[in-house]
Amino acid sequence: MDNDERALVEGRRFTVTGGAGFIGSWLVERLLRSGAAHVTVIDNLRYGDPTWIQSLAGRDRLTLLRFDLGTDDCEVLDPHLDGADGLFHLAAEKHNQALGRPARVLRANIEGTLGLFERAAQRGVAKTVFTSSLYAHGRIAGPPMREDERAEPRTVYGISKLAGEHLLSHVHGSAGLPHTVLRLYFVYGPRQFQGSGYKSVIVRNFERILGGEPPLIRGDGNQALDYVYVDDVVTALVRSLDSAASGALLNVGSGRAVRIIDLTRAMLEVAESDLEPTFGEPDVTAGSHRVCVNDRACRVLGWKPSVDLTRGLRKVYDWLRNERRSAQPS
Ligand SMILES: NC(=O)c1ccc[n+]([C@@H]2O[C@H](COP(=O)([O-])OP(=O)(O)OC[C@H]3O[C@@H](n4cnc5c(N)ncnc54)[C@H](O)[C@@H]3O)[C@@H](O)[C@H]2O)c1
Repeated sequence: MDNDERALVEGRRFTVTGGAGFIGSWLVERLLRSGAAHVTVIDNLRYGDPTWIQSLAGRDRLTLLRFDLGTDDCEVLDPHLDGADGLFHLAAEKHNQALGRPARVLRANIEGTLGLFERAAQRGVAKTVFTSSLYAHGRIAGPPMREDERAEPRTVYGISKLAGEHLLSHVHGSAGLPHTVLRLYFVYGPRQFQGSGYKSVIVRNFERILGGEPPLIRGDGNQALDYVYVDDVVTALVRSLDSAASGALLNVGSGRAVRIIDLTRAMLEVAESDLEPTFGEPDVTAGSHRVCVNDRACRVLGWKPSVDLTRGLRKVYDWLRNERRSAQPS
């Protein structure tokens, strides 16, 4: 946390949707640590874990409202939006969580999102920051992605995120809602999803390594992703409150392509493991290259990713190892 960040947060009131989730809980922690006067978290708790925020220092300045965007009436949110200095909209049905449940994606990410933006504009929220996704771009191969290229989302999730971006500018145009949109790339860090169901390759393979099994690579491991550490994403979210970022659409990633084979080697090194990766059948990610150009975010936010891959992986590994230890019967 630096002085610029403190100046954006100290003594101010914020509302964070999805604040009990992976990225949201780290954001809430940063806001409280930076001296926010009050933070309201709006979350249906379908995926998040309220204990991540309920145990924070400064929890006397925190309110948790259980609310389902897309189902519950957004008018209930008015007291939590009235006079808010910032609204961070992170709650969403994500791609892998909601595969096969398109109606739920549309309800939360479009209907609920529109309802939220409309109420926020009516209640005079000073600044809204929306987390969109690389899936709004659509393509999964080719050169690094730029914000101004034509977006052609190919999944219901990607379509819903792009719609969220457009709905935000629509509400701003009709009722006034200053905002910044961040297209996040592959965010990793402690608390990323580790329950049953879809897990990122980082969590899946660290779990295998911790269990003494070789990490599994799908295909030849040349598919490349843009991994960005959660603390760096939180910094970008907070800096988006600056009026200089208003109206901007920004790619938030490391700007660096990491091949799965190299990621796996780095993970084995972090875990000090002698295991060798094993190669399985290619999946839909074969040949993919999903990386961003992050110059615009660096320039507009005065930001740059600061956590290198090895340091970030070590944090995830230590977290998973501790979780595993505390889950074992004593
Ligand atoms: N994690 C990534 O790599 C990544 C990449 C691109 C974009 N994003 C975006 O960042 C945001 C946060 O992602 P995350 O990884 O922290 O996800 P997460 O699932 O850990 O957190 C999302 C939170 O929103 C809540 N939520 C979901 N649907 C809701 C609804 N209808 N009403 C109220 N609450 C609801 C969940 O319970 C959860 O606590 C999302 O908008 C996601 O689309 C994330």
